[in-house]
Amino acid sequence: MSTSTQSLEFRTFPAALDGDAPDAATAGWLEADMLGFLARRPTSAHAAAMAAYLVEDGQSLTGVYDTASPAHSLRPDIPVATFASFEKSLTVSPGVQIAAHLISSVTVRATHRRRGILRRMMTDDLGRAAEAGYAVAALTASEASIYRRFGFGTATWVHDIAVQTDSRFELTTTPAGHCAVVDPRDIPALAPAVFDAFHAGQPGSIGRHAQYGDRISGRVTEEGDEDRARRAAVHYDENGAVDGYVTYRFGGWESRPHTIEVTDLVAAVPSASLALWQFLASIDLSSRVTYSGGSPDDALRWALVDPRVLSVTNVEDRIWLRILDPIAAFTARGYSDSGSVSFRVVDELGFASGSFRLTTGSGSGALERIDDEHVDLEMDAWVLGALYLGGADARVAAGAGALREFTPAAASTLQRLLAPAAPVYANTYF
Ligand SMILES: CC(C)(COP(=O)(O)OP(=O)(O)OC[C@H]1O[C@@H](n2cnc3c(N)ncnc32)[C@H](O)[C@@H]1OP(=O)(O)O)[C@@H](O)C(=O)NCCC(=O)NCCS
Repeated sequence: MSTSTQSLEFRTFPAALDGDAPDAATAGWLEADMLGFLARRPTSAHAAAMAAYLVEDGQSLTGVYDTASPAHSLRPDIPVATFASFEKSLTVSPGVQIAAHLISSVTVRATHRRRGILRRMMTDDLGRAAEAGYAVAALTASEASIYRRFGFGTATWVHDIAVQTDSRFELTTTPAGHCAVVDPRDIPALAPAVFDAFHAGQPGSIGRHAQYGDRISGRVTEEGDEDRARRAAVHYDENGAVDGYVTYRFGGWESRPHTIEVTDLVAAVPSASLALWQFLASIDLSSRVTYSGGSPDDALRWALVDPRVLSVTNVEDRIWLRILDPIAAFTARGYSDSGSVSFRVVDELGFASGSFRLTTGSGSGALERIDDEHVDLEMDAWVLGALYLGGADARVAAGAGALREFTPAAASTLQRLLAPAAPVYANTYF
């Protein structure tokens, strides 16, 4: 087995269909993607469904092909590494969205690790994204130790929670409106309007890719089958409009206590979310509800008579951001406080390098490039990505040495200026 990169060909192409089926390049790429994420080999129907999602999202695919594969190894049109990128919106402040360059499907075959394949795919792709004018790139990571070196920092977090729904579950308020159980197969049609309303007001939220409706409803699972255990309910506001939904499944009779597992819960307003929790708690024969990926600042905590029925079982990074154009990114978002602070960004890849001054006031702000030798703060590119939305605390970053302070209390000033208008959170995984 060769360990050089000489026999490797890097190809980037748009996801495409040939009739209803993936075209040859997309079909080989999908096989490699499924292999990398430890999934089953796709059937032709599943491959067709996945290719249709990729095409709907306008995904750009990179495959790395080894022209020196040994006899009997996988077909040469199945790449040894995969990478995908596409555009979705990122809400940077309530009501303000920018186009984000999303990165997904990063896999390198076990036999081809640590030869710099990821580094080449990533730097080539980020270069194309910067050239195309994207201010930020974003990803969700299956391992947290890989992406800082490429300038990505964690900007939003999620909580996995378990809620006891026996007699101790009681809300302090009676949410308006009402809930109904619906056919989960109707969720792909109902969910987008609810998500869009949530997304518009939620700093940190990322637009959802094409396969979301099928995934959350169980119509097509990651293995390509239908999950007939999936159930769904919606919430109607006082005018009868759907303003929230939940999809869930029973964890099985062997689960102790008997548990309802939420797949997705999205609400346009917090009161709809509370009503859906009230609905989940009222399901007979279960006394616990779990949810992976909830907001660290969920209104449920405030609305429970006994907040200890809710426990956090895991805290995880969700959206990793990489600033490609600091001036465009920081000028786009809103600011709640006035002031000024300067900082230098050290960026190994060059995109965000330089010294800048952030000046904010009257709800908006501007970032300008400065020549000054003296700056208040200095940070690496990944720290800039982590701090951008205001969800990570600059003072804590300074305490850890990730933000280097040259002017006393400058980290506090940066924290005050970047404070988000609402707690940051994203419920999209890609
Ligand atoms: C993670 C993965 C994509 C890395 O690919 P690779 O081609 O071996 O990575 P490279 O050789 O280009 O290494 C790039 C850098 O990342 C580091 N790195 C790679 N994988 C790493 C890991 N799992 N943990 C920590 N660092 C890692 C390398 O040491 C190297 O560092 P350096 O350039 O600063 O010296 C590959 O191991 C993989 O496919 N894993 C399984 C799927 C997965 O986890 N994908 C991520 C989805 S978000």
